[in-house]
Amino acid sequence: MKLTYLGQSAFHLITNGINLIFDPMISANPLASHIELSSLSSDYILLSHGHSDHVADAEILAKQNNAKIISNYEVVSWFENKGIAGHPMNLGGKYPFEFGTVKYVNAVHSSMMPDGSYGGAPGGFVIWNGDKSFYFAGDTALTLDMKLIPMLCPTLDFAILPIGDNFTMGYEDAVLAADFIQCDKIIGCHFDTFGYIKIDHEAAISEFKNAGKELILLKIGQSIDL
Ligand code: NI
Ligand code: MN
Repeated sequence: MKLTYLGQSAFHLITNGINLIFDPMISANPLASHIELSSLSSDYILLSHGHSDHVADAEILAKQNNAKIISNYEVVSWFENKGIAGHPMNLGGKYPFEFGTVKYVNAVHSSMMPDGSYGGAPGGFVIWNGDKSFYFAGDTALTLDMKLIPMLCPTLDFAILPIGDNFTMGYEDAVLAADFIQCDKIIGCHFDTFGYIKIDHEAAISEFKNAGKELILLKIGQSIDL
């Protein structure tokens, strides 16, 4: 799997030749001004919830690539009204897609579409295939529900967790989240994009190191092989 960070909570992932994009908010992010939307391939766009810092570029990317949106029922319906195909899910459900099995898991957060309409229940995704298993948490507080993930899903190889605080858990809580999901390799997201969520990178990395875990903070545009 090759994972590329696109800023805020946006990632591009290639697995078994299939291109996935998570939570794209790229063109409206000044920190990601060097990322060209037209350069991004996607077969599926996974949206954790309806907030604009997660869905802003979903329409343009879906239309550019004829990609399918995977999200909760309400988010998928909102995009279907714009002529974009989707696969609706809801909390606790899993489905075997061509790139792997996706389980839509609980997130403790809120969800509203950019036009103010209802955005359904926010969630995260656990995804596994013959190669790897990982968790994309979306926006969430630390929650005991995370303890269900290792009980219900294959052992995680890595997890993408929000660490910016204020709107989601901060990095101190994310260390506990890593315990709950039994995963020691964490990729941070949802930090630095705006003032409320600016963090001290070194402090965040040492908080994880002191707990015997690894926090990876990718630069925007940087890729990692997992
Ligand atoms: Ni949000
Ligand atoms: Mn957010």
